[in-house]
Amino acid sequence: MNLTLLCSYAHRYSLALVMTLVLVTATDDDSGPPTNITAVLGDTTTFRCHIQKHGIPVTRLYIQRVLKDSQEIFINGFDSTRKLDASPEYQNRTKVNKTDLSMEMTNVSVSDEGLYKCVVFFSTVLKEMPKIYLKVTANYSIPTMEKKCSKHGDGAAGKSCQLSCSSVGGYPQSAVKWAGLNLSLINVIHNESSENPYSKTWTINQTIMYNCDQPTNVSCAVEGAVSPAFSICEKEPFSIKVMIAIVVVLVFVLLLILVLVLMNHYYRQQTSSSGGRAEYAIAQSDDCHLQLKSV
Ligand SMILES: *[C@@H]1O[C@H](CO)[C@@H](O)[C@H](O)[C@H]1NC(C)=O
Ligand SMILES: *[C@@H]1O[C@H](CO)[C@@H](O)[C@H](O)[C@H]1NC(C)=O
Ligand SMILES: *[C@@H]1O[C@H](CO)[C@@H](O)[C@H](O)[C@H]1NC(C)=O
Ligand SMILES: *[C@@H]1O[C@H](CO)[C@@H](O)[C@H](O)[C@H]1NC(C)=O
Ligand SMILES: *[C@@H]1O[C@H](CO)[C@@H](O)[C@H](O)[C@H]1NC(C)=O
Ligand SMILES: *[C@@H]1O[C@H](CO)[C@@H](O)[C@H](O)[C@H]1NC(C)=O
Ligand SMILES: *[C@@H]1O[C@H](CO)[C@@H](O)[C@H](O)[C@H]1NC(C)=O
Ligand SMILES: *[C@@H]1O[C@H](CO)[C@@H](O)[C@H](O)[C@H]1NC(C)=O
Repeated sequence: MNLTLLCSYAHRYSLALVMTLVLVTATDDDSGPPTNITAVLGDTTTFRCHIQKHGIPVTRLYIQRVLKDSQEIFINGFDSTRKLDASPEYQNRTKVNKTDLSMEMTNVSVSDEGLYKCVVFFSTVLKEMPKIYLKVTANYSIPTMEKKCSKHGDGAAGKSCQLSCSSVGGYPQSAVKWAGLNLSLINVIHNESSENPYSKTWTINQTIMYNCDQPTNVSCAVEGAVSPAFSICEKEPFSIKVMIAIVVVLVFVLLLILVLVLMNHYYRQQTSSSGGRAEYAIAQSDDCHLQLKSV
């Protein structure tokens, strides 16, 4: 076998590897722990292949996803000697920069979370760079809170409140935290986490029972998202009913006084002008006679 044949064989072999999209590379240079990068769901992130050997031209770059059992999938890269197509499912989402040996990935999803690596070829020397771990996060929605409070059934002081807190669309999975409550008095009655099968994000929902006899401002939080504060166990010395009763009594008393004043006034008027009124009555009765006559 001459050298040309060997080269063409090697070239075809590497091409076949890329075509199957799976590259199993020997773990000769896995130096150091992985670099962590974080991206928010839907955002754009950049994988940087940190190259120390400046000056030596890079002829090829493969950026690969490392799966379990050290299986690897080719994502994108370049080869200075030929056209290198990105893997079809990454074609529209990734772009390689040959200048700074980086790869930009748009619309990051939860399933992109994982280990990646750069395989760099300096002319004929293959070098694997420290792996890159992509961590994906998604922000939880502002939690919605519901309260249902009632007086204790046994007539004890204070109230018994059922509080629900729920938030959607976050990643990774998280838990509800309550603020303003005495944690040792919280009784969790419902705790639910469900994963969206498509986006892999989480919806969490927790319901607690809480007994209180002091007015308390309560809010719940999931990661950075905090609900508006609710007030529970408010003192209710003057309930609406009591207020209405007081107003009704006041109006009644005022009316009574008014009636008394009017009666007093009427009585005085009657005693001072009783003659005039008698005349009027007579005139009226005359009028009636006239009417009767005319019929
Ligand atoms: C990367 O994150 C992992 C946990 O996810 C941590 O153990 C490790 O120390 C981090 N590495 C660096 C370099 O920060
Ligand atoms: C990539 O984009 C092209 C053109 O916009 C489209 O035809 C193709 O279906 C897309 N591929 C994927 C995997 O989304
Ligand atoms: C590649 O990266 C270099 C350095 O960061 C930058 O100046 C250049 O504009 C980038 N090229 C493309 C095509 O994005
Ligand atoms: C982003 O990816 C999701 C699925 O992972 C897809 O439903 C959505 O249409 C994509 N958005 C864009 C702008 O490509
Ligand atoms: C929480 O409740 C427990 C039990 O009633 C009590 O001992 C503790 O002092 C309370 N803690 C606070 C901060 O009020
Ligand atoms: C509620 O469920 C979450 C996720 O399953 C868990 O992390 C958390 O500890 C649970 N909380 C309680 C109080 O059971
Ligand atoms: C959370 O759970 C409570 C109790 O099961 C329920 O009443 C409420 O509707 C749930 N909220 C959401 C958003 O699923
Ligand atoms: C609850 O919040 C209201 C308004 O923000 C405030 O006036 C009140 O003093 C608070 N009550 C307690 C017990 O912190």
